[in-house]
Amino acid sequence: MAHNLQHNYAQEVWDKDRQHFVHPWTHFESFGRDGSLVMNEAKGAYVTDINGKRYLDGIGGLWCVNAGYGREEIVEAIAAQARKMPFFNPFVDTTNVPAAELAAKLAELTPGDLNHVMFAGGGSTANDSAYRLVQYYQRDRGKPEKRHIIARKEAYHGSTDLTAGLSGKTADRNPNFEYTHDNIHHISTPDLYRRPDGMSEEEFSDFLVDEFEQKVVELGPDSVSAFWAEPIMGAGGVHVPPHKYFTGIRSLCDKYDILFVADEVVTGFGRVGHWFAVKDMFGVQPDLLVCAKGLTSGYQPLGAAIFSDRIYDSLNANPDKWFNNGFTYSGHPVACAAALKNIEIMEREALFAHVREVGPYFMERLQGLRDVAHVGDVRGSHFMACIEYVADKETKEAFPYSVNIGKRVSNAAEKRGLIVRPVGHLNVLSPCLILTREQCDTVADVLRDSMNEVLAELSSDGII
Ligand SMILES: Cc1ncc(COP(=O)(O)O)c(C=O)c1O
Repeated sequence: MAHNLQHNYAQEVWDKDRQHFVHPWTHFESFGRDGSLVMNEAKGAYVTDINGKRYLDGIGGLWCVNAGYGREEIVEAIAAQARKMPFFNPFVDTTNVPAAELAAKLAELTPGDLNHVMFAGGGSTANDSAYRLVQYYQRDRGKPEKRHIIARKEAYHGSTDLTAGLSGKTADRNPNFEYTHDNIHHISTPDLYRRPDGMSEEEFSDFLVDEFEQKVVELGPDSVSAFWAEPIMGAGGVHVPPHKYFTGIRSLCDKYDILFVADEVVTGFGRVGHWFAVKDMFGVQPDLLVCAKGLTSGYQPLGAAIFSDRIYDSLNANPDKWFNNGFTYSGHPVACAAALKNIEIMEREALFAHVREVGPYFMERLQGLRDVAHVGDVRGSHFMACIEYVADKETKEAFPYSVNIGKRVSNAAEKRGLIVRPVGHLNVLSPCLILTREQCDTVADVLRDSMNEVLAELSSDGII
């Protein structure tokens, strides 16, 4: 009886969701038919659905539950702050304790002189704020013609009107939307796997840096405002750029007086073993840095755009000017309290030392899947990984879109109790940073079985 009640409730929730919750990235046709997997509980590196089935979460919520699920201390910090003061106006000249503490902490953790923090509700709106600051800064210093932004083709920076334009993912360019920003330009993805035949990694790096310079020259050096990049491209297929790529672009930014914006929404807060990747992995000091996700480990929505003393000090103190940007929930005290506790845990547990130790083992186990037929590439760094499937390993020819191989493999993994993310012909992985070696083994073993099941199915359907 109790079981039936539970079952009926699960069905009811599934149906309410299907009828009323319009999800990010809705595919109306299949959603109306299949609805959603309803997740209901989580602990450690595992999530449990409403029917009680447990899964190892290979995607850390969505590249964000870095500290893992079930952190009572974060829950307590959230409750304590909500009880004490859930909210107060952050505009102009009132603030709250957690926001002030967190801004100072971020100034300490971010590289170099990034000491000034604009809070937002997530990664997209933090990128929006960074963009508005870049615009304001260039005009404020008398360079209104500096309005062009150079981003990359497979980049993902969010889903507001602006950040959808800043993003370059071809699969997301939708004819039903207007992309109105004529000042945003996309250059090549640093995709080592699909680099031109016969080009070494070093030559490819030079080629990409040259392409950046050519774009600057084509637009007019005095009209380029900023370069926007994820240190390791995430949703666009986990592309770790070639060595020297970012240092090359940084020196051109210096040469042409262009700002360097690092979108560390995914790479920040330990995913690749450091607080931030741009300086610690790639040796580049950005002018602005955007973060979200791991900032609170997903316990609360929060994003931040952090910028340099150099920009801050140059902003004109003209008494008639306002930088009118920000949101009701900028620096929300409950979200900032969650972030502070999350950061405290990361520091206390030396979580990133664990990432630096176990992350390479995770990658090694995934690299072992290269011997599976139709696995073309396995790439990434630490707890940020991607598997690319191809119709032909020799020519790297992609599967037709209709094969939807990433989704087939993720469905097969889900049956076996593992969540991985399908992105077209890719599977993307970004587990909680607490993952153990044994759990790395489980991910690799389950993936191998799932791939074999899918390949057998494709073979019996005559697709391969
Ligand atoms: C690199 C990057 N920037 C920005 C965003 C957008 O963040 P949000 O979904 O919190 O708005 C994402 C989301 O996945 C991201 O991966």
